[in-house]
Amino acid sequence: MRLLIVGAPGAGKGTQATRIAEHVGVPAISTGAIFRGEMASGSELGLKVKQIMDSGELVSDEITDAIVANRLKADDVAKGWLLDGYPRKLSQVEALDGMLAEGDDLLDAVISLVVDPEELISRLLDRAQTDGRSDDNEETIRTRMQVYTEQTEPLLAVYRERGLLEEIDGMGSVDEVSARIFRVLDELAGA
Ligand code: AP5
Repeated sequence: MRLLIVGAPGAGKGTQATRIAEHVGVPAISTGAIFRGEMASGSELGLKVKQIMDSGELVSDEITDAIVANRLKADDVAKGWLLDGYPRKLSQVEALDGMLAEGDDLLDAVISLVVDPEELISRLLDRAQTDGRSDDNEETIRTRMQVYTEQTEPLLAVYRERGLLEEIDGMGSVDEVSARIFRVLDELAGA
């Protein structure tokens, strides 16, 4: 299966991506996690993206598209993958379309997690207390939300038009949300 998971900051993309990956047996690839790994290792790329990540804006397409294109060439994704946090803007949709066309591949579904704005803020502020992620502060959260609304939300209409969008209620417990997603994916797999 080739899947995307989309949602506002704090919607639960990363949490659910791990569970979906296990459920369908494909690797979950998170661009945000890749960038955080680079920052933690102190690599040149990590240093390059740190300032932009800490501001809540998006890393350039040049860097992001190249990372995804490279990752999708690895052996472990031959049978499928789940992309978490990519694409995030229309230009990245086009880039991904190009990568898919190159391998004659098709997307199976785009899972969109829908969560109330107050709940998103509360989850991120809770995480700020526990994880210390450098972009979980009020100012950066505000920017991340705005970037999502302006640049990422328009992607939903594109994938709806293509008949790929699966909107999932992301409120409730982690298990409840997983169960909703699995139901949809199991139906797709059996179809
Ligand atoms: P990214 O890592 O993708 O961050 P994000 O979109 O802001 O999303 P989060 O990781 O904050 O939230 P999530 O939806 O994954 O939720 P999670 O499961 O963690 O990107 C970070 C940055 O990297 C971007 O700002 C940008 O700079 C850069 N970047 C990444 N991709 C890029 C791209 N394609 N192009 C350019 N730049 C890019 O959950 C959040 C919290 O809620 C956790 O504490 C979790 O435990 C909790 N939680 C989850 N589900 C529930 C639930 N059901 N109930 C209660 N709590 C829950």
